[in-house]
Amino acid sequence: MLSIQLLLMALTSVLSLASAAGPEGCSTAAARFDIANTTIAYVSYHKAGEVIDLPGTSDTCYGFTTNITANLCRVVLDTATSDSSSVHFEAWLPDDWNGRFVGTGGGGLGGCIDYGSVGNAARLGFAAFGTNSGHNGSSGIDYFLNQPEVIKDFGYRANHVQAQVGKELSKQYYGRPTEYNYYIGCSTAGRQGLSSATLYPDDYDGMLLGAPGVEWIRIVTQWYLIAERYGWPDVNTSAYVTYQQFEAIAAKTIEILDGEDGVVDGMIDNPTHLKLDPQIFSCGAGFLNDSVCLQNGEQVNTVRLAYQPMVDLSGHFVYPSFTLGADPRTFASNTINGTGGFGSTFPQVRDYFRGIVYNDSNWSDLNLSIADVEYASSLDVGLTNTPISKAHLGEFKEAGGKIISYHGRWDPTVPSELTEWYYSGAQANMNASLDDMHDFYRIFFIPGMSHCSTGPGAWDIGQGSPLDPDMLDAEHNAYLALVNWVEQGQAPDLLVGTKYENDDVASRNILAQRSK
Ligand SMILES: *[C@@H]1O[C@H](CO)[C@@H](O)[C@H](O)[C@H]1NC(C)=O
Ligand SMILES: *[C@@H]1O[C@H](CO)[C@@H](O)[C@H](O)[C@H]1NC(C)=O
Ligand SMILES: *[C@@H]1O[C@H](CO)[C@@H](O)[C@H](O)[C@H]1NC(C)=O
Ligand SMILES: *[C@@H]1O[C@H](CO)[C@@H](O)[C@H](O)[C@H]1NC(C)=O
Ligand SMILES: *[C@@H]1O[C@H](CO)[C@@H](O)[C@H](O)[C@H]1NC(C)=O
Ligand SMILES: *[C@@H]1O[C@H](CO)[C@@H](O)[C@H](O)[C@H]1NC(C)=O
Ligand SMILES: *[C@@H]1O[C@H](CO)[C@@H](O)[C@H](O)[C@H]1NC(C)=O
Ligand SMILES: *[C@@H]1O[C@H](CO)[C@@H](O)[C@H](O)[C@H]1NC(C)=O
Ligand SMILES: *[C@@H]1O[C@H](CO)[C@@H](O)[C@H](O)[C@H]1NC(C)=O
Ligand SMILES: *[C@@H]1O[C@H](CO)[C@@H](O)[C@H](O)[C@H]1NC(C)=O
Repeated sequence: MLSIQLLLMALTSVLSLASAAGPEGCSTAAARFDIANTTIAYVSYHKAGEVIDLPGTSDTCYGFTTNITANLCRVVLDTATSDSSSVHFEAWLPDDWNGRFVGTGGGGLGGCIDYGSVGNAARLGFAAFGTNSGHNGSSGIDYFLNQPEVIKDFGYRANHVQAQVGKELSKQYYGRPTEYNYYIGCSTAGRQGLSSATLYPDDYDGMLLGAPGVEWIRIVTQWYLIAERYGWPDVNTSAYVTYQQFEAIAAKTIEILDGEDGVVDGMIDNPTHLKLDPQIFSCGAGFLNDSVCLQNGEQVNTVRLAYQPMVDLSGHFVYPSFTLGADPRTFASNTINGTGGFGSTFPQVRDYFRGIVYNDSNWSDLNLSIADVEYASSLDVGLTNTPISKAHLGEFKEAGGKIISYHGRWDPTVPSELTEWYYSGAQANMNASLDDMHDFYRIFFIPGMSHCSTGPGAWDIGQGSPLDPDMLDAEHNAYLALVNWVEQGQAPDLLVGTKYENDDVASRNILAQRSK
């Protein structure tokens, strides 16, 4: 009797599962969803390999089409977070579901759905969410002007709502709760992850966080402040150092320091542990030729300043220096060019200060100062900044959460030293030992990787899109390494990075592999 009952229950659950996912389940899903504050915009079923249009996408996002990576049900939805704000989501619910949910974030100003990460996750069988963090697009619009609720979504709320809605929608679609919940993202999305682990420690079981953009206000303003140190916007002084000079200096720095890590491969593995006196780049010192060498003491001083950490108004170091040997193209942006105009750097700076800090759509970024930056950091409107001083992952750790973080040593956008600072800042705030930290939070520094991906190093650890089908194991794919850690308790000791020809993963032409 009992066994027949169990058999019937098992049969029923198989049947209900069979009807939940797939084309039929998808076609009736819209009517079945019932999620607080949420409107379903549309639901559609797609086959792996289809390329779909993304009408209405901001042209500051990643494109107007995306590739479907599995047979899946696509759900587009909006959740109201207040009377004057809402968060837009995209859910990809694969037929072949592995019982897990994953949320993602976005780069820069966070207003673009990261279809690459959503697609990768769905391909691996996860119910995958993407979000616009509460505003559409990543630059050029005064999103935040007079929009205090929208700022909160970007700062911390959208990701929390994503976890709530994502778990609930997955449950309603598949007919059973998610077993594990993950978060992946790089840059601003990395910041959103750490913020979430601090504020909402139960939202996710595991996080894969690339180059986390903590101290976000200092990140987006650093290039201005560095450029000001080398004279910008006045490029007509004897102290001014040109882009060609900075480029030659970075290349020569790598040449000189390359062997320090024991391998001569055109990359500095541990740049934050090294120092170099820019005096050696003076004319006549024998390292740089006459067309790019530093011509006077003022230029030497300029380079010294450009590679110094950011200091606040009281003289404290508040942000690491530009990384030795890192991609120097940053220095090309704040320069004079053929037209006589000045380049600028992060358009986010203008939008952020106009909308969030000064409530002035005419504010100009030309005279941005450290005082502006410190003022903005002290306001930390909508908790957008995620400062190291507030890093606290104790509850996340207690809840069993795990974080794998990776950071490129060639990253010109977020210096990899910031990740070192964050880690030790969190450790200090938690009064934890290094072993305690290592038990739930591990960092992999990737030599020769730029911001989030690309660069001369063996950088691919499955964080980009598309995925190489030959690399879907926990050694080559950081995401699967995270799953192993969270679900099997197997902590990752090493990851193998892959370098593809022309950084084209789809080619599957491997040039090199390297363990971290
Ligand atoms: C963002 O775009 C989506 C889709 O086009 C739309 O549904 C949503 O309302 C937009 N959100 C905002 C804040 O404009
Ligand atoms: C729905 O949104 C309102 C704010 O607009 C919020 O107070 C309420 O808690 C939300 N409901 C749920 C279930 O999240
Ligand atoms: C921003 O300025 C406008 C006037 O330009 C004012 O109406 C509004 O209340 C201000 N918003 C905030 C958040 O201070
Ligand atoms: C810099 O000096 C050159 C002449 O030496 C002049 O043509 C140019 O306009 C100056 N640029 C600026 C921005 O002052
Ligand atoms: C000087 O060095 C730079 C950078 O290394 C190089 O691009 C340039 O060709 C060199 N110029 C001469 C005249 O050798
Ligand atoms: C120089 O100006 C052109 C045209 O205004 C612009 O496209 C280019 O990005 C600028 N280059 C730099 C290095 O600022
Ligand atoms: C911004 O500048 C425009 C024109 O320069 C002016 O009409 C407008 O009143 C200014 N807005 C504010 C908020 O100062
Ligand atoms: C920046 O400061 C300079 C000198 O103090 C001043 O002449 C210029 O008008 C300022 N520019 C802006 C856009 O505020
Ligand atoms: C920090 O941890 C150490 C070692 O476990 C302990 O002795 C000390 O009292 C703790 N300090 C605080 C402030 O909790
Ligand atoms: C999407 O698919 C097209 C072919 O259908 C391919 O050319 C393109 O590289 C794919 N993009 C990604 C990101 O996989």
